[in-house]
Amino acid sequence: MGSLHPPRRFLFGPGPTQIEPRVYEAMSKPMVGYLDPFFFQVNEEVRTGLQQVFGTKNDLTLAISGTGSAGMEAAVSNFVDPGTKLLVFSAGYFAERIAEMGRRHGANLVRAEKPWGEVFTEAEAREAIEREKPQLVAFVHAETSTGALQPPRWITKPAHEAGALVIADCVTSLGATPIRVDESGIDMAFSCTQKGLSCPPGLAPFTVSPRAEERLRARKMANPVWYLDLKLLMEYYGSMRRYHHTAPVSNFYALREGLAAILEEGVEQRFDRHARMHRDFVRRIEAMGLKMHVTDPALRLPNLNTVRVPEGVDDQQVRRTLMAEHDIEIGAGFGPLAGKIFRIGVMGPLATPQGLDLFFGAFERSLAVAGASAARM
Ligand SMILES: Cc1ncc(COP(=O)(O)O)c(C=O)c1O
Repeated sequence: MGSLHPPRRFLFGPGPTQIEPRVYEAMSKPMVGYLDPFFFQVNEEVRTGLQQVFGTKNDLTLAISGTGSAGMEAAVSNFVDPGTKLLVFSAGYFAERIAEMGRRHGANLVRAEKPWGEVFTEAEAREAIEREKPQLVAFVHAETSTGALQPPRWITKPAHEAGALVIADCVTSLGATPIRVDESGIDMAFSCTQKGLSCPPGLAPFTVSPRAEERLRARKMANPVWYLDLKLLMEYYGSMRRYHHTAPVSNFYALREGLAAILEEGVEQRFDRHARMHRDFVRRIEAMGLKMHVTDPALRLPNLNTVRVPEGVDDQQVRRTLMAEHDIEIGAGFGPLAGKIFRIGVMGPLATPQGLDLFFGAFERSLAVAGASAARM
């Protein structure tokens, strides 16, 4: 079989994104056991680092084993009993995944829907909440399928006024875009490691507000998903240190190192860098005569840009050329946006002026190739 030699890509897609060398190095450090005091020290550093990037003082903040979807299923399975009225605000693919999980856990599921690329205003959220009277509300903060950023307060404010708890999917925002969980009034937030945190996939950062923790502790029914049962996970990661599962230790090392890099840069400085690179990105896109998919600049996700595919251009060919000739990965549109948008992540080590120069040089050439072949047809 020989040794493994993966190609070196520039990851300008929605994720996984580029990883710092120090994170790879951390992953190769010596293994320890899942009950080793050193592992718990790393886990505590991960917990406090996550509190800072989430913007929360929530005690119940942890990294769940599994990818972002494990975080999503943890949120749903720990807070949905059969018959719980769950209102999902849906304007993209990932909101529908939350709805599907809710359905499988027996929720009394209702949806509020908007076209892909839009967000819900506070008035729209309030109207849906007053109409449906849900116990639990879920929304996607950073909708990766559309590039739209839902302002959390527009949903949490009317939800709390109606006594509902709020789940937020922060899979694409954490580490690159402010979430400010406590100020935003989010009760359960989940994320992943392979996007804004610039780490490999494998863990799902998760945080629970004191109100939601109280609800969780009072829950009579055991979570039907044993692996994601937060009460059992609290016994493992908390002071009891009772074995639950074999934690993926190397992924914890990676996340700890990724968080250390973020804290060294400064959380706010990192958010500012992504915002600045996003503004430069949009300026350069518009200078090329292209258009962003999300029309309101204030509602665009800074670290994942969605750009309309120009008329007559085959988006697949552009992506193929970027990959074959420049080793650059970007994302395609899907669902109603298939063939209509490019999804371009500018995150972590690539969110720099040099990263943008690298991307735009290759993108302009790949668009020219696709444009020339469209003109020949
Ligand atoms: C908004 C959102 N939610 C959930 C997920 C699922 O995360 P994962 O693929 O890490 O399981 C993704 C993945 O891209 C996402 O973008």
